[in-house]
Amino acid sequence: MQRTSPRAPNPNPNTWKQNKTLSAEPSHASVPPEKYAETVPGVAELFRLRWSPRSFSGRPVPAEILEAILEAGRWAPSSYNEQPWRFIVAAREDAAAFQSLLSILLPFNQEWAKNASVLILTAARNNFSHDESANRHALHDAGAPLSYMMLQATASGLQSHAMAGFDHAKAREVAHIPPEFQVGAVVSIGYPDSADKLSSEQMKQREVAARQRKPLSELAFNGRWGQPFAK
Ligand SMILES: Cc1cc2nc3c(=O)[nH]c(=O)nc-3n(C[C@H](O)[C@H](O)[C@H](O)COP(=O)(O)O)c2cc1C
Repeated sequence: MQRTSPRAPNPNPNTWKQNKTLSAEPSHASVPPEKYAETVPGVAELFRLRWSPRSFSGRPVPAEILEAILEAGRWAPSSYNEQPWRFIVAAREDAAAFQSLLSILLPFNQEWAKNASVLILTAARNNFSHDESANRHALHDAGAPLSYMMLQATASGLQSHAMAGFDHAKAREVAHIPPEFQVGAVVSIGYPDSADKLSSEQMKQREVAARQRKPLSELAFNGRWGQPFAK
């Protein structure tokens, strides 16, 4: 399958961190060349530009950009249009809220996520509100706005990094999640910074490594399991 090369890769990987754009256009400046997704032709640029950095500058996210990110999440689809998701948002300017969400992360994640600009914890309502029957897709649904928010962050010149590495019981307690909701994931959002600023060699290496994916042939089947998908 033909793979397209990255569009307009930034010739100088050290300049991407200096971008100051606040536009709602996908920003190539937040993506070092090695992080561009290599895809077949036709994939929207935004998908190719999103990646998960660990080095963030801590620069505050303007309120209207944060609102746009949350708004993007709001428009995700869900079973019965239940919109079972809720977002606990902590911008670093609100030091108490930010430290509180940071405290639920496992130490490895805390080490780098402390420099993010925003942390968001997601939760999902377990039952449908129309009849209180179990919503088996609640967490599945909550993943959709997470992706939308991550892509909107990229569109706004930021990047994001989702996390499962946190203490769920502590998250419930710290964020006052009601019992009828389950805890989802945490996502950090911010402006990418230089890999050199990361504290461990392992993190530095991961920060500059090319992104990997399984081949589509392993993921997509034609009509039934095991039958290769062919275009
Ligand atoms: C639900 C979820 C949980 C994740 N948990 C963590 C985590 O706890 N710590 C971490 O460093 N990365 C975490 N990641 C990031 C993944 O490792 C990353 O998305 C994957 O390696 C692909 O890289 P890319 O997003 O740059 O394409 C998580 C991602 C998702 C979607």
